[in-house]
Amino acid sequence: MRRFETRAVHAGERRGGGGREPDTSNPISTPIYASTTFWHPDVQTTDRVLGGEEAGYSYTRYGNPTVTAFEEAIAALESPRGGARSFAFASGMAALHAALLAAELSPGGRVLAAEQLYGSTATLLVQIFGSSGVEVRFADFYDLKSLQRRVEELNPRALVVESISNPLLRVADVPRLAELSRSAGAALIVDNTFGTPYLQRPLELGADIVVHSATKYLSGHGDLTAGVVTAGPPYDAALDQVRKLTGGILGPFEAWLALRGLKTLPLRVERQCENSTRLAGFLAEHPKVRRVNHLSMEDHPDREVARRTLSGPSGLLSFELDTEGREGVFRFLNALEVCVRTPSLGDVYTLATHPATSSHRDLPPSRRERLGVGENLVRVSVGIEHPEDIKEDIARALEEV
Ligand SMILES: Cc1ncc(COP(=O)(O)O)c(C=O)c1O
Repeated sequence: MRRFETRAVHAGERRGGGGREPDTSNPISTPIYASTTFWHPDVQTTDRVLGGEEAGYSYTRYGNPTVTAFEEAIAALESPRGGARSFAFASGMAALHAALLAAELSPGGRVLAAEQLYGSTATLLVQIFGSSGVEVRFADFYDLKSLQRRVEELNPRALVVESISNPLLRVADVPRLAELSRSAGAALIVDNTFGTPYLQRPLELGADIVVHSATKYLSGHGDLTAGVVTAGPPYDAALDQVRKLTGGILGPFEAWLALRGLKTLPLRVERQCENSTRLAGFLAEHPKVRRVNHLSMEDHPDREVARRTLSGPSGLLSFELDTEGREGVFRFLNALEVCVRTPSLGDVYTLATHPATSSHRDLPPSRRERLGVGENLVRVSVGIEHPEDIKEDIARALEEV
């Protein structure tokens, strides 16, 4: 099997131009197939393609060669030994919605989700699935003993967790969660947006369905919105059907950009891990910083789980400023010049955000406090700039606190 870096560059490409055999004008990069429909030499072929008896494309909502190239590349990264297929969507939220539907969440069914989930995922569960009769419960996924009791008591159909949580970077023990969900007959859905397949491949650790906001690390340049789900049987067939019917497909332009971004994923994540580790070390010594959350820190509660399940600390960190309230944090964020103030993550640019007023804005302050998301917390998604420039920018902005 070729190695991760090689697969990231080549997988999905040069598939013979959407089913065509190679000829004398084969593009090195899969073209953008900006076409709604596909025609065939005769209607009999169209009939066979639509009936699934012959490989080919018919209608872009059912499949598009540029989108397939991206999907094949993701499948080669998330599931290198095969057995799983990837399905691209218009956003990470559309991908999560499809993954939850594929896990057969129907009226009367229960889903048990991590309390630390991305806010919109929690709201999707409660407002969309909850209002169609699915019972949605939340639990602490980092206390496995109490989680086991909750699983036995609730008998859920699916467990939902993120490989690395936002913004405190808690690490899910995916192998143990997979055992737990298997023994309960539930599907384990892992949102691997923060982890990336470079640092963790949840399917290899026993998860059933892996989801990404490809808006983040997979594409990596802050220039598109996309999502992707990877799963093997029986979930892959369900995902294919859900996508055809709900229609939240990724367009060929975005798929092309995402595939292009994906080629440098290992290089970017490697550099982001190095840069974030250096920045975490600097912040930990800084007198205006009370606490640093980064997987290289000795006092991180999930160091042991991270050592078993991740091959790097990720490019994310968060830290508490030694202030009360938000004024000092706002002065710090406003003083940044290299780092960009924005709520997204996973880009080549270093991005800094204030979780209490962005990702966790809609939570009551008491719940925010319980989750450890205080007013003085800053999250940084470290980019690929020179580490000294990031450090100097942050050091200068800290003087404003
Ligand atoms: C962990 C995680 N999952 C899913 C999403 C949703 O992704 P998108 O914004 O691409 O819909 C986000 C967005 O920030 C996220 O952080």
